[in-house]
Amino acid sequence: MSRILRKFLLGSAAAISLAATPFALSHFDDKEMQQSYRQSWFAMVAMNFGPMVASVKGEIPWNQEMMQGWANDLETLNTLNVIRGFGDGSDQGTTRAKPEIWENKADFESKLNDLKTATAALQETTTGGDRKAISESVGAVGKACKACHDEYKSEDYLY
Ligand code: HEC
Repeated sequence: MSRILRKFLLGSAAAISLAATPFALSHFDDKEMQQSYRQSWFAMVAMNFGPMVASVKGEIPWNQEMMQGWANDLETLNTLNVIRGFGDGSDQGTTRAKPEIWENKADFESKLNDLKTATAALQETTTGGDRKAISESVGAVGKACKACHDEYKSEDYLY
């Protein structure tokens, strides 16, 4: 063993505290971690998309700057690889994800891609500022949410 490696293994407080943390490597495979990962992602999506829907419906005042911010954050969320939260064996437990997801993974992923496409379009129209166009894009994103929830989520929440 190299001196440097031994020094790291024996002497490093960082190594010891890392081993003790609940985020030790093997836990990344835990189904609970994956379920909270995907549920947190959907919660963040809803926190940004929800107010956009409310704005379109006139339930809250239209604020173009806020609309842009929500659309940008939605687009940022789409850069995360949320499919990592749907690993094999993560179907049972505290979740509304239907088992059909794991039987039709390709279709599920394509519905996730539809959401990405619609979200990218929403960000673009939001930048343009045309209220009617933005409303239509919000509707298209809502359809992408619904298309997936109808088949793969056991209970409705939003939209
Ligand atoms: C590709 C499929 C898919 C798409 C697209 C999708 N969802 Fe979901 N959504 C799910 C699944 C599956 C769950 C259940 C996750 C779980 O309980 O483990 C879920 C859960 C949720 C939840 C509950 C999160 C929680 O706290 O447990 C909310 C809110 C939500 N989605 C909102 C949305 C919104 C808003 C959109 C569109 C902007 C959207 N979803 C698009 C599949 C999808």
